[in-house]
Amino acid sequence: MNFKIFGAAVFVLATLLFNPGWAEEAPEVDRTSTGGAQTLEDIMARQAQMEVDETFRSENLGDPANAAPISDELGTLGGRSDADAWRGIRYNELDPSTQVRGPAVDVLIQDGGMSWYQLREGPVIAYGGGAILGFVLLLVVFYFVRGKIRIDGGPSGTKIERFKAIERFGHWLLAGSFVALALTGLITLMGRSFLIPVIGLEAFSTLAVGAKWIHNNISWAFMLGLVLTFCMWVVHNIPNKLDWQWLKAGGGIFTKSHPSAKKFNAGQKIVFWTVMILGFSVSLSGLSLLFPFQMPMFADTFGFMNSILGTNFPTALAPHEEMQLSNIWHSVVAFLMMVAIIAHIYIGTVGMEGAYDAMGNGQVDLEWARQHHDLWVDEVQAKQGKGESS
Ligand code: HEM
Repeated sequence: MNFKIFGAAVFVLATLLFNPGWAEEAPEVDRTSTGGAQTLEDIMARQAQMEVDETFRSENLGDPANAAPISDELGTLGGRSDADAWRGIRYNELDPSTQVRGPAVDVLIQDGGMSWYQLREGPVIAYGGGAILGFVLLLVVFYFVRGKIRIDGGPSGTKIERFKAIERFGHWLLAGSFVALALTGLITLMGRSFLIPVIGLEAFSTLAVGAKWIHNNISWAFMLGLVLTFCMWVVHNIPNKLDWQWLKAGGGIFTKSHPSAKKFNAGQKIVFWTVMILGFSVSLSGLSLLFPFQMPMFADTFGFMNSILGTNFPTALAPHEEMQLSNIWHSVVAFLMMVAIIAHIYIGTVGMEGAYDAMGNGQVDLEWARQHHDLWVDEVQAKQGKGESS
C-alpha cells in the first residue's frame, strides 16, 4: 500500500514538474516581422510560464541548402549560423563535445530551472505551509472538542519504567535534530517570501547562511537518531491482529474506551513507520542535495517504476533535473513529516495526561500504562516476577 502511495506521489510530482498543470497555452504569434525567429511575445509568454509551441525554434536548425557558395565572401560559414548551432544544442540535436571534466559540465543548456523555481516558490510553499497551518488549527479545534485525554480515576502514584536512558537518548537525538532541521529548512524555503520583507536583505543573508550551516550539519544527527530508534523499536512495531482491533475502536479516542495494546499501539506504529519511511526518503534526497550531482536517484527510481507499474517516466535525466527533482521531493516529504510530527508532539504533550513522562524521565504512572498499554504492563510484570523468583 505504501508503495502505491509513493508511486502516486512521484507521479503527481513528476507530472507537475514536466508538464506544469497550471501552464496556460500561449496565444498564436505572428513571426513574419522577425523572419520566423522568436518575438518579444514568445519570450514574455515563456516568462509567464505559458506553454509555448517550440517547434518554430526546435526545427529551425539550419540547412546546408542555405549556405552561400564557397567562393562567396561568407561561403566558408556553411548553412548553419551560430544561432542555429545554439538551437541545436538547446534541443539536443547537436552533439557538442568539451574538454572540461567534472560533474554536469557536459550539459550546456538545461531549461527546467524556471518550472522548478515556480513550483518551489508557488505550490510547494502554498500547499506545504497551508497544510502545517491547517493541521495546527485542526488540533486546536480537536483540543477544545475532545479535551485532554485523562487518566481515568487519576494517577495511581506508582511508577513503571517505560523507556530506558538509551531509548530516550535516541528519541531526543531524532526529535531535537528534526525540529532544528524543520525550522532551518522552512527558513531556507520561505525566507525569501516571508522574512526578507520583514527583516531586510542583510539580516536575512546572515540568517540564511546560519540556517544552511545548521541544516547541512545536523542532518547527520537526524540520520543517526533514525538508525538508533529503528534498531531499538522495530520489533515492537511489527503490525499484528491487535492493531486492527485498536484501529476499529479508533484508539478509544472518541469513545473514551481503552483498546488493548502492547508496547506500541497501532497509532504509534503508524507514527513509527511514517517517521522511518519518510525519514529514510528525506535523508536520501538530502544526501543527493548535499553532494550535488554525485548521487542521482530519480532516473533509476523512474526506470524501476516504469518496469513495475508500466508507466512512462523519463529515465534520461540531466544532472540538473535530478537535483531539481531531489529538491522538490525533499520539501514535499519534509512537509508530510512535519504534519505527522505535529500530531505526535500534540499527543505526547498537551493532548494526553501522563504521556510526556515516558520520554521525560522514562517513568510512567502504572494506571496510565494499564489504560494505554495493558498487555505491555502484563509482559513487564511477568518478566519482573520471573526475575524476583529466580
Ligand atoms: C519535540 C517534541 C516531541 C515530544 C514532546 C515527543 C514525545 C514523545 C513521547 C512522550 C513518546 C512516547 C510515547 C509512549 O510512551 O508511548 C514518543 C515516542 C516517539 N517519538 Fe516523539 N516526541 C517529540 C518529537 C518527535 C520527533 C520530531 C520524532 C521524529 C522525527 C519523534 C518520533 C517518535 C517515535 C518514532 C516514537 C515511538 C512511536 C510513538 O510513540 O509514536 N518524536 N515521543
